[in-house]
Amino acid sequence: MDAIRIRGTRRLHGRIQVSGAKNAALPILCATLLSDGESLLRNVPGLRDIDTTAALLRFLGREVSVGIPEVRVHAGRRNVPAEAPYDLVRQMRASVLVLGPLVARFGRAKVSLPGGCQIGARPVDQHLMGLEALGAKISVEHGYILAEAARLKGAEIVFDIPTVTGTENLMMAAALAKGRSTLVNCAREPEVEELGRVLNKMGARVEGAGTSIIHIHGVDELAPFDHAIIADRIEAGTFLAAVGATGGDVLLEGCPLDDLEPVIVKLRKAGLDIEREGDAVRVSRERTLRGVDVTTAPHPGFPTDMQAQFMALMACAKGRSVLTETIFENRFMHVPELLRMGANIETHSNTALVAGVEVLSGASVMATDLRASASLVIAGLVADGETIVRRVYHLDRGYQAIEKKLAAVGADIQRINIADEEG
Ligand code: EPU
Repeated sequence: MDAIRIRGTRRLHGRIQVSGAKNAALPILCATLLSDGESLLRNVPGLRDIDTTAALLRFLGREVSVGIPEVRVHAGRRNVPAEAPYDLVRQMRASVLVLGPLVARFGRAKVSLPGGCQIGARPVDQHLMGLEALGAKISVEHGYILAEAARLKGAEIVFDIPTVTGTENLMMAAALAKGRSTLVNCAREPEVEELGRVLNKMGARVEGAGTSIIHIHGVDELAPFDHAIIADRIEAGTFLAAVGATGGDVLLEGCPLDDLEPVIVKLRKAGLDIEREGDAVRVSRERTLRGVDVTTAPHPGFPTDMQAQFMALMACAKGRSVLTETIFENRFMHVPELLRMGANIETHSNTALVAGVEVLSGASVMATDLRASASLVIAGLVADGETIVRRVYHLDRGYQAIEKKLAAVGADIQRINIADEEG
């Protein structure tokens, strides 16, 4: 099994190219189900989640060719079951994003219920409530969601909470519904806005994506598209945090500075220097790292997807910080692993009290989910001695060749193969 070996305490210097955004690419791949013909996605990151989505689209009869950074999806065969099986959905919850497109386009969808995951229960009730409001008949049987509608009809939908993939599923469904839909209390993440751009390229009439109210005039059919995916703000934020932890000076090429504003404000407060340089962002740290409090919130708040990486940074800062997680109920799985590396962290329900320590010490640690893995990599980069991060398949879901990108800026980091016993 692959693991990442890091020998820490090296400052990072050089350039890193930010890849395309995973959480933008996944819904856009699913949007290809809304049309016939061939769509071309550019700037797609090379990730396990992209391969899983490609497998799902193939299962649904599409011809998919993955040649990173491009992916082509062709309508391919029809008369295949509009079904997302458990085996694919359990590998990646975002598979639920085929639900809206399938029922809107083919009148029927059968999608495995995702179930919980490491970071929380993550129900999909808001997706189902919205589809029902658009006129779909929904039932849950034998672990599968069944959704049926001869033709969806536009409706007003108010989300109880802003949900990213829920908003995206409903945008795709409403794009082919008859009449006008209004979605209220929508997620405002840049990836939602990006999906709106793609749907409009396909001929949809979506207004307000990226704000809390989205208006959609349904159309009868949509066309294939050619689109370059926006840069990954969370990947970029992870590298910013890494340089913050180790010190050094790195130019992040293609870094989406505006999308990262809530993170950058906190990183600057912690002592990092972050400046725009044309299309790139220069990050350096000469000053002492200081403890800064953070509370996660839906965009434009501090993203939950950066909480674990920020905690690794705070673990080696001077002073204390309080990190509060408000989005997912179980997103502190990295804490016990950081403790094994000498961090001083106490958790009370959804709050972590971090007292920075002078040195973290390298250890063998276990990745539990995607962002937790990134947090352990950052801790390993700054720790004294050798760190082995196990179960890097989590990391491979969301970071393209992270060890190569970090090695290129001077980190002593390699992918190795080791035996790993579960349990
Ligand atoms: N929620 C419900 N009911 C629903 C939907 C969501 O109660 O029907 C709750 C969730 O349990 C959570 C909150 O609403 O407490 C927000 O969840 P959301 O639906 O926004 O999350 P998601 O769409 O499942 C996406 C990203 C996640 C990211 C979250 C929050 C994708 C493919 N995934 O998930 O990304 O953490 O939004 O920003 O876009 C990651 O990349 O590591 C990752 C987990």
